[in-house]
Amino acid sequence: MPKPIVFSGIQPTGRKHLGNYIGAIRQYVEGQDRGDPAIFCIVDLHAISVAYDPAELRERLYDTTAILLAAGLDPERCILFRQSDVREHAELTWLLSAVTSHGDLNRMHQFKEKSGKQRELASAALFFYPVLMAADVLAYRATEVPVGDDQRQHVELMREIARRFNERFGETLVVPEMRIPGVGARIMDLQEPERKMSTTGGTENGTILVLDEPDAIRKKLGSAVTDSGREVLRGPGKAGIANLIDILAVARGIDPSEVEREFEGKGYGDFKKAVAEATVELLAPVRERYAELRPDEAALEAALAAGAEKARAIAAGTLAEVRDRMGIGPSR
Ligand code: TYM
Repeated sequence: MPKPIVFSGIQPTGRKHLGNYIGAIRQYVEGQDRGDPAIFCIVDLHAISVAYDPAELRERLYDTTAILLAAGLDPERCILFRQSDVREHAELTWLLSAVTSHGDLNRMHQFKEKSGKQRELASAALFFYPVLMAADVLAYRATEVPVGDDQRQHVELMREIARRFNERFGETLVVPEMRIPGVGARIMDLQEPERKMSTTGGTENGTILVLDEPDAIRKKLGSAVTDSGREVLRGPGKAGIANLIDILAVARGIDPSEVEREFEGKGYGDFKKAVAEATVELLAPVRERYAELRPDEAALEAALAAGAEKARAIAAGTLAEVRDRMGIGPSR
């Protein structure tokens, strides 16, 4: 079996949380050894689709780069780069928009959610967001896209865009498969477990940040919403407990059913303490390594620049073929 070409993207907005870590970042680290190549992109062009501050965007971009490196991405074993450094993404977005259905874009849940929240301007960039995402992946002819559950609809759309391009212009692009983790694909807010954990839509106390100090993690998990029952089991009406079971299972690398067995007959107090300690252990090494890496912006910049060069070499080849197939520019 040939190795997969792995591609994923992550926003430099807000602060990265446990949902990002469990649903996505942990899969990236695992993917860098399976993928040939494995490509990870910090998507600053996506970040400008909602209200933002330019100076802060740069800071957050370095934060995100340092978090990914601290989590275990190794620029020797993967391609890590900043989206805007590879202009091909923007060009391919426009070219792919010719085979993207306006109706499909209108049906995107995230567009509906996010556009409703914009007070000043629901930008056209927000509407085009999924086309840029398709360009990100299709530019590398990636076969595998590791993401959390909330990106399902976006990946479905990029598959449709690739299929439509190939039908219209001949076999050129690869239809990628999504890779969603079996456990932890949707980590929920600790205070409102019917909503996903998120720094933009969630509660402050219900969101564990990758860079939270151990005591903050303990406090947030200690006050996590459970239910009036006493059994550590997944099931109807137990969204809060099910979420904590998933977190513990992932942190320990075991199956959720093993967690249920271990805590049979024990109360929620012991269980929550175990979840807190396992989460502290999971995130502490990332936080410590981050503190070492983040101050050296020149080194972060150098790593991104080297990544961009490798990424560009691949994307440029795809673009040349796409342009040619579409009759854009002189014939090759
Ligand atoms: P972003 O930056 O919002 O999220 C990064 C990754 O984290 C996952 N995630 C979660 N997983 C589990 N539980 C949660 N509560 C949770 N919240 C977020 C997301 O599914 C994602 O995998 N549009 C993308 C970025 C992107 C991209 C791409 C992804 C741009 N281009 C190309 C894949 C391929 C986004 O906003 O992710």
